Amino acid sequence: MKPTLNELKTRVQAALAAAFGDEYRDRDPLLVSTNNPKFGDYQANVAMSLAKPLKSKPRAIAQKITENLSVEDFCEAPSIAGPGFINFKLKTDYLERLLNAAYESDRLNIPKADPIQKVIVEYPSPNIAKEMHVGHLRPAIIGECFARVMEFLGHDLLKVNHIGDWGTPFGMLITYLREAYPDPTEAAAASTSGDLATFYRQAKKRFDEDEAFKARARQSVVQLQAGDPEILEAWERVCQLSKRSYRKIYNLLNISQDIVDRGESFYNPYLPDVITDLDKAGLLVEDDGAQCVFLEGFSNKDGEALPMIVQKSNGGYNYATTDLAALRYRITQDQVDRIVYTTDAGQSNHFSQVFQVARRAGWVPETVALDHAPFGLVLGEDGKRLKSRSGEAVPLKDLLDEAIARTKKDIEERLKTEERTESEGFIQNVAEKVGIGAVKYADLSQNRVSDYTFSYDRMLDLKGNTAPYMLYAYVRVRGISRSGDVDLSNLKADVKLTEESELTLAKHLLQMDVVIDEVATDLLPNRLCQYLFELSQKYNQFYDRCPVLKAEEPARTSRLVLCDLTARSLKLGLSLLGIEVLERM
Ligand code: ARG
Repeated sequence: MKPTLNELKTRVQAALAAAFGDEYRDRDPLLVSTNNPKFGDYQANVAMSLAKPLKSKPRAIAQKITENLSVEDFCEAPSIAGPGFINFKLKTDYLERLLNAAYESDRLNIPKADPIQKVIVEYPSPNIAKEMHVGHLRPAIIGECFARVMEFLGHDLLKVNHIGDWGTPFGMLITYLREAYPDPTEAAAASTSGDLATFYRQAKKRFDEDEAFKARARQSVVQLQAGDPEILEAWERVCQLSKRSYRKIYNLLNISQDIVDRGESFYNPYLPDVITDLDKAGLLVEDDGAQCVFLEGFSNKDGEALPMIVQKSNGGYNYATTDLAALRYRITQDQVDRIVYTTDAGQSNHFSQVFQVARRAGWVPETVALDHAPFGLVLGEDGKRLKSRSGEAVPLKDLLDEAIARTKKDIEERLKTEERTESEGFIQNVAEKVGIGAVKYADLSQNRVSDYTFSYDRMLDLKGNTAPYMLYAYVRVRGISRSGDVDLSNLKADVKLTEESELTLAKHLLQMDVVIDEVATDLLPNRLCQYLFELSQKYNQFYDRCPVLKAEEPARTSRLVLCDLTARSLKLGLSLLGIEVLERM
């Protein structure tokens, strides 16, 4: 059977068609799951929305729908409440059957997406030459979650790293290196093994202070883009150097290994076509020597339409030009159905402009979905953008090392109070998993679009909606199998739900498919965090009220199955967030 919500939708639509004619079959039944057991499990609000078109009272409409509704194979008889809500309560034996099936399935019976799509998730897309700083934390963490969710749903996924490797920062760096190391061999040596962060800082300083330097830097970008061999070679070396440094961070963050590096440079050969084809589409306007497209819905303070510059008067191309080329490449060559861009909210206008121009040029088929998933800033505890003591963006490496170090201290203290000894290797491993998990969870559990405050104390707190809490919850649930010496993977699943807390837990367990689906659609990982947090709370209530190991059969096995499903749901959910569970902590 399809996920309950879908099935219910189909049934209500069938009833709508039977009651009011076929043209009502595609109507959205406005189904929501209710968290109030008094009203049942789901509620359809469609009757209210039909009052106008049917010129009738919602309650009468609801009455007519229920008369035509056939759901007795999995629901109790639906009831009508208030102005015309239709309430559904799932039958207990139906829930039991679903739980048995979930137990037997290696993916908790969560169906794959239908249809399967070709999806590009674009992340983390740092800029080469700069050291990865806290600003790169969010795209890496959030993008990885999107990628894992899409992959789990069976989509044909391409993870693309749209590295900033073709613009001004480069020009700056190359110009700086040439100036600091006039001897080409020395320059080559420096750009092969040097410290990028330091070079970058010095180059930036020169760039900001010296107009002539700035002009030379800009010129070398144009030369680079025109394929000057000497500049290209220097560029290549710097690329290698920075790719090596950010690989280390990806590994620390446990980010997918199969992200394809396709930086801005990749699209260089396609840039001239963008201009030509925009011209053919009649969108190109020359303004002050630059090639532009005038935007709809973006105007300056005098109400004049703003231009998107696609080619500067010196012949150079822009960030936007590259994005237009990338978009076309992905549609024509990769044949995507959907592209998800993960960047800071500061780029929201950029993306809506790029999407607009591509659509107006006729490059985006209607079936292709373009999603920009913007995220807010990482703030320090002072409420300002997170900075190091010296006022610069905090290097990502330091930030993560600190999370691990603090976690390690917490663990050592805990071990002392528990009078436990563990090997150094064990402690280090737990500290890494929990520390990195904490950073990720703190990020993902916030609404993506808002800024969030980075606080070690909060993210490492054992008593909140945090990774350590969730990871402990998992260890505790799994602990049952050790203390009762039972193999949770090998039970004869025949669930019987008798207690209220069992029912509550069971229903929550069975909602995971909907939640994962929502994350894929709405791109909001915090829904999954919230789901997992509530799951562990519902499990705790169940465990408080229902004996498990001490229960008589068949309740004992039935409850062990609920424990196993809880553990596996936590493990799956956390892994979709990019967090690995531990069997012992
Ligand atoms: N490199 C960019 C930055 O650090 C992010 C790239 C976003 N993706 C894109 N297709 N423009 O801001």
